[in-house]
Amino acid sequence: MTDPQRVLLILSGGIAAYKCLETIRLLRRAGVAVRCVMTKAAEEFVTPLSVSALSEDKVYTDLFSLTDEAEMGHIELSRSADLLVVAPASADILARMTAGIANDIATTVLLATDKPVMAAPAMNVRMWHHPATQANLKTLQARGVTLVGPVEGDMACGEHGLGRMVEAQTLADAILDRLKRLRNADNTPSINELTGKSALVTSGPTHEPIDPVRYIANRSSGRQGHAIAKALAEAGARVTLVSGPTRLPDPDGLETIHVDSAEEMLAACRNALPADIAVCAAAVADWRVAGQADQKLKKEAGGLPSLTLAENPDILATLSKPGIGRPALVVGFAAETENVVDNAAAKRLRKGCDWILANDVSVGTDTFGGDRNRIHAVSEHGVEDWPEMSKEDVAAKLARRIGAYFRQ
Ligand code: C5P
Repeated sequence: MTDPQRVLLILSGGIAAYKCLETIRLLRRAGVAVRCVMTKAAEEFVTPLSVSALSEDKVYTDLFSLTDEAEMGHIELSRSADLLVVAPASADILARMTAGIANDIATTVLLATDKPVMAAPAMNVRMWHHPATQANLKTLQARGVTLVGPVEGDMACGEHGLGRMVEAQTLADAILDRLKRLRNADNTPSINELTGKSALVTSGPTHEPIDPVRYIANRSSGRQGHAIAKALAEAGARVTLVSGPTRLPDPDGLETIHVDSAEEMLAACRNALPADIAVCAAAVADWRVAGQADQKLKKEAGGLPSLTLAENPDILATLSKPGIGRPALVVGFAAETENVVDNAAAKRLRKGCDWILANDVSVGTDTFGGDRNRIHAVSEHGVEDWPEMSKEDVAAKLARRIGAYFRQ
C-alpha cells in the first residue's frame, strides 16, 4: 500500500462552492486524502460541516484559532499536501494571490506553500474579462499556477459568458490527472523551474488540401505535443501551442493556435517568436498538393487525377536557423522505423536543432495514438535511452530536462 496522495482544497466565496462538495466526494472515492480550508466568504455558500463530513477531516477556517495552530500550524498545513487547489477561485482570491497578500488562512497558506497550485476560476463574465483579472492570471500562470476552466455558460447572476467554474467531475479529473503525474518524482518538473521563459510547441498533424473536401496528412493524435505544452506550462513557462487538427481539447492555462496546413503552422510559429524554447512535436506533412483545386474533383470526370506535390517548409529546420529569433533551445522529434538512433543523430545535424527525441514507430509499437512512448534523447553529448513510459511522463521528463538546461 502506498500512502494516499493529499490535496489541500481552498474554497473561496462563490456560488460554485457547491460543486466542490461533489469534487471532494469524487476525490475521496478515488482514494485521495482531501483537507479543506475555507475563506469567510466561502462559508456563506457552503457550511464547514458539509465540507468536513465529505472530506472526513477537520476544516480550517481561522488563521488565529489556537486549537487549529495547536493541531497543525498554517505553514505545515501549506506543505502537508501534494497539490493545492483553489476552487472556486474568485476574482478576489486570485488578486490577493497575485499581490502576495496573506490576510486570512487561505491566502496565508497559499503564500507559504512550496507545492504546486491549481485554480478553478469562477466569477461573473465581466469580472473575468476585466484587465485586472486577466493581468493577475498572467502573473499567476508565470509563477506556475495552472488553471482549470472557466467555461462559458449561464451564470448565477443572470448573465451569460465565460466565468462559470468547470463541473465537479471535470475538476476532479484534472486534479487526479495532475496527481498521477506528480507521483513520479523524476518526471515532475519542480514548480517555477521555467518561470519567465516562453515556449513554442507544435503538435498534431497538418492537413494539406487536395480540393475543398480532400486532404493528405500524416498520422498523429497530437497527444505527445499537447502533453509537452501542458508540462512546460506547469513548470511555469508561458506557452504557445500551435496545433494542427486533432480531437484533443485545448489545454488549460496556455494559448492554443489552431492551424491546418504546414504553411499556416510555420506562419503561426513565426508569429509566436521570440521564444526561449521551441519543441516541434507536430507530424508535419512533407509535401502539399501543388495547385490545389478550387472545386471538388469529380469522379465522373473519368480517369484518375494525378497529384503534383510541392515540398513543404521544414518548420523545425527554419526555427533552428541561427539569426534573430532562434530560440535558445530547439527540440525536434524523429519517428523512425529503423536505425532509430543513427537516423535521429543525423537528423539533429541536418535540421540544426539542439535535441532530437527519437522514437521507434516500426510495426508493433504503440506510438501513434497510443499512450506510451520509448524515447532515445539525442544531443551533442550523446544518446540517453529513456525507459518506456506514458506520453505524459515523457512530457514531464522533457520539461525537467529543459529546466536543468536553463539552470546550467
Ligand atoms: O524530417 P522528419 O519529418 O522526420 O523530422 C521530424 C521533426 O521535424 C519533428 O520534430 C517535426 O515536428 C519536424 N518537422 C517540421 N516541419 C516539417 C517536417 C518535420 O517541423 N515540414
